[in-house]
Amino acid sequence: MKQPLRYPSSVSLLHWLLAIMLVGNLAIGWMLDDKEELLDLHKSVGIAILIMVLIRLANRFRVRHRLPPSVNETGTSAHFAEVAAHCLLYVLILATPLFGWLKTNAAGHATSCFGLFSLPTILPRSRELSHWLGQLHSLTAYGLAALVGLHMLGVLAHWLLRRHNILPRILPLLRRPISSTNRVQE
Ligand code: HEM
Ligand code: HEM
Repeated sequence: MKQPLRYPSSVSLLHWLLAIMLVGNLAIGWMLDDKEELLDLHKSVGIAILIMVLIRLANRFRVRHRLPPSVNETGTSAHFAEVAAHCLLYVLILATPLFGWLKTNAAGHATSCFGLFSLPTILPRSRELSHWLGQLHSLTAYGLAALVGLHMLGVLAHWLLRRHNILPRILPLLRRPISSTNRVQE
């Protein structure tokens, strides 16, 4: 059977939607020291991200038989690095909003998503716990930012070093055929 060369549109759309929301929320997070009034927006976008990641993972599972094979040969260190980086991206993009929510819990505040619904409060109010969860939230957010940087460098390295432009594999709107030099493991 012919293997797919690109990610299904649903995977690509969710990838780019989440990328935009994530970069936006990182930027808002870094502005919070000077613009405290952005905190509610930051929390709301963060919860929306958490929900979107769960939808993205469920969708990925749904289309698991239609995913293109990796551009890196199985068993190579490049393949290992790719799988590890993608898994860690998913872990951090889940852990960051979760720690944010728990930190808000421990600080004794409600967590509302654009005023539409609120997440439950599951932790007791504790200044110390809130401090440590805040530290963890900050740590995972910085880790996520660094890993997204590496992820983009990886895409660039493929193009510069191996002459593989892998970007069209995950572009939802650009449905032109992928050129033969970019076809891998067919
Ligand atoms: C900003 C946040 C981003 C996150 C969290 C993210 C996360 C991910 C994840 C988890 C995958 C694996 C998809 C899967 O198998 O489920 C992926 C694939 C991919 N991403 Fe991103 N990404 C981000 C931004 C970007 C950007 C800015 C670019 C452009 C350079 C990019 C280019 C790609 C490409 C080309 C693939 C497909 C790799 C392949 O050929 O298998 N991503 N991304
Ligand atoms: C993927 C989603 C999220 C990202 C990328 C993110 C990122 C950030 C960043 C970069 C900061 C600044 C950290 C620093 O400068 O040390 C921050 C602060 C903060 N975030 Fe988030 N955040 C997300 C989700 C959430 C959620 C869902 C909540 C709560 C419901 C939340 C609550 C907070 C709070 C309360 C602060 C201030 C931290 C403090 O004062 O210790 N965040 N966030």
